[in-house]
Amino acid sequence: MEAEEAKKKVVFSAVKPTGSMTLGNYAGALANWVAMQSDPSYDCFYCVADLHSITVDVPPAEFRKDTLDDLATYLALGLNPEKSVLFLQSHVSAHAELAWVLNCHTQFGEARRMTQFKEKSKRAPENVNVGLFDYPVLMAADILLYQAELVPVGQDQKQHVELARTIAQRFNNKYSPTFTVPEPIMPKVGTKLYSLQNPTAKMSKTDENPAGSVLLLDPPEEIMRKFKRAVTDSDTCVKFDRANKPGISNLLTIYSVFAGVSLAAAEKEFQGSDYAAFKQRTGEAVCAFLAPVQKEYKRLIADKAYLSQVMKDGAERARRMAYKTLSKVYRKVGFVQP
Ligand code: TRP
Repeated sequence: MEAEEAKKKVVFSAVKPTGSMTLGNYAGALANWVAMQSDPSYDCFYCVADLHSITVDVPPAEFRKDTLDDLATYLALGLNPEKSVLFLQSHVSAHAELAWVLNCHTQFGEARRMTQFKEKSKRAPENVNVGLFDYPVLMAADILLYQAELVPVGQDQKQHVELARTIAQRFNNKYSPTFTVPEPIMPKVGTKLYSLQNPTAKMSKTDENPAGSVLLLDPPEEIMRKFKRAVTDSDTCVKFDRANKPGISNLLTIYSVFAGVSLAAAEKEFQGSDYAAFKQRTGEAVCAFLAPVQKEYKRLIADKAYLSQVMKDGAERARRMAYKTLSKVYRKVGFVQP
């Protein structure tokens, strides 16, 4: 019984490389990942989901750079390869292999109902490829290969994790228990960040207005400029009120995350402060947080040998777990053993 109690819960998550990460990626995902890796009751697998990136058209050289940038940024933000398994999805071929088997256990209608597929195909009707349609099944393979129990994701990925649950349960019922049924876990409310230019839309690296999203690797002058131009309201008081003051509420959230204080403390700190000073201080807090991160990123991105070593070790550790699951799956569906 004690051994059972001591059994760690597997945590799996991933970010797909597409351009540099934003403050929103940190607040909504990475901050949580870093915290979870230090909890001794978790066994964390964090993946750069590069297979997912090619569902949209991206020039290969740029894509390669984005992938390495993301890995170096993960490390610079504090993900520790000694504590977590960090790897590139394309380095573990079991992801693509399991995805095929899961494809044959997913109904067309289930995949067609995915909100993100519907939105993405509307946004880019010129490239509605089968990979885009299959994206959530590959995600299910990512999660199920590691027998993950917990999947920290943003709200927009919850439906995909639910599909992974459905597929896992279906497979377990059809054959015999094979996969752990995963559960999405959402970061605390308030950690979703919004565009500085349109504070009711998510801060995203694909924002049409680049001034709306602050990149983790933006130089300090650029960051200060973006905060200076951030949209507020015609009121004058700094107060958290998402419905009526989305711009100010977003800035308060950003301040609280990057200055490391509670929302209540942030509100109190800026009581009576004018908007210009508040925006300036928020920009400064972000720059102060990012200065050591950017310095570490620069050191790491220049050290290709170290990055290669991290990728190699991570992929080896990931593979051990992944192939154990995949061979079980292959046996259960009836493939003849080689
Ligand atoms: N689709 C996720 C995103 O865009 C990234 C991702 C890929 C992922 N595979 C995953 C997240 C598995 C959680 C679990 O953010």
